[in-house]
Amino acid sequence: MVGLLNPKLKALTSKIRDEKLRAKVVELLENPVFEVEGKAYSGLPLDVSPAGLSHHHCYPGGFIEHIVSTTNLALALCNSVEKVYHGKINRDLVIAGVLLHDIFKPITYRVNEDGSYSSTNLADYMDHLSLVIAELVRRDFPLELIHVVSAHHGDYGPIRPHTVEALICHLADFLDSRLNGEVLNAAAYLTRKAVGEELPRLNSREAFEIINSKIAEGWEGVERTVEKIKQKRTARKT
Ligand SMILES: [Fe+2]
Ligand SMILES: [Fe+2]
Repeated sequence: MVGLLNPKLKALTSKIRDEKLRAKVVELLENPVFEVEGKAYSGLPLDVSPAGLSHHHCYPGGFIEHIVSTTNLALALCNSVEKVYHGKINRDLVIAGVLLHDIFKPITYRVNEDGSYSSTNLADYMDHLSLVIAELVRRDFPLELIHVVSAHHGDYGPIRPHTVEALICHLADFLDSRLNGEVLNAAAYLTRKAVGEELPRLNSREAFEIINSKIAEGWEGVERTVEKIKQKRTARKT
């Protein structure tokens, strides 16, 4: 079944100029299913999936935030390379690469009864990077795009970035994961210090509410904000 593409992702795909590439990217984003041995694996819907189990974007909606923010960062890097360093960049490859780089993360996650995340059986055998490389080859994506995606883990992946587009995708991915992870860590630390326990699955908005309240009103502000977040969460459940 082909799902409705998230409007934020849809808007980003429209920045890809090459029609053929854009159509292929949209097709995969709309139907991120992986087939092996006649079995189709589809995971959490992109809209509600996290983009990590523990270090970054590990909350509902984290996947979309990560892709949107990484695209913003990647385009800012493109501007710098073009305008300051006079380098040439194929922006289509950068945008398509960022949009697809983690597309099979959601099929490696499952939601437990208590709302926490763990990995699926498929993830015991293949990681999100191997999955996406296999699928891009199967769907006949251009080799340069396959390289951008396969190099996105930089020194820790199967191949280091060999093109400027791949380097930009890797750096933007690293920046965004780090930024988000550090913000979540800071908010978790403040919460622990202020109320003696952490809030499970803190999202980026809540994390910034906590950080902002520390700046504006000190520890008492943090206590009040954590209490407010708890109340909002209970109200949502009932
Ligand atoms: Fe990744
Ligand atoms: Fe990523």
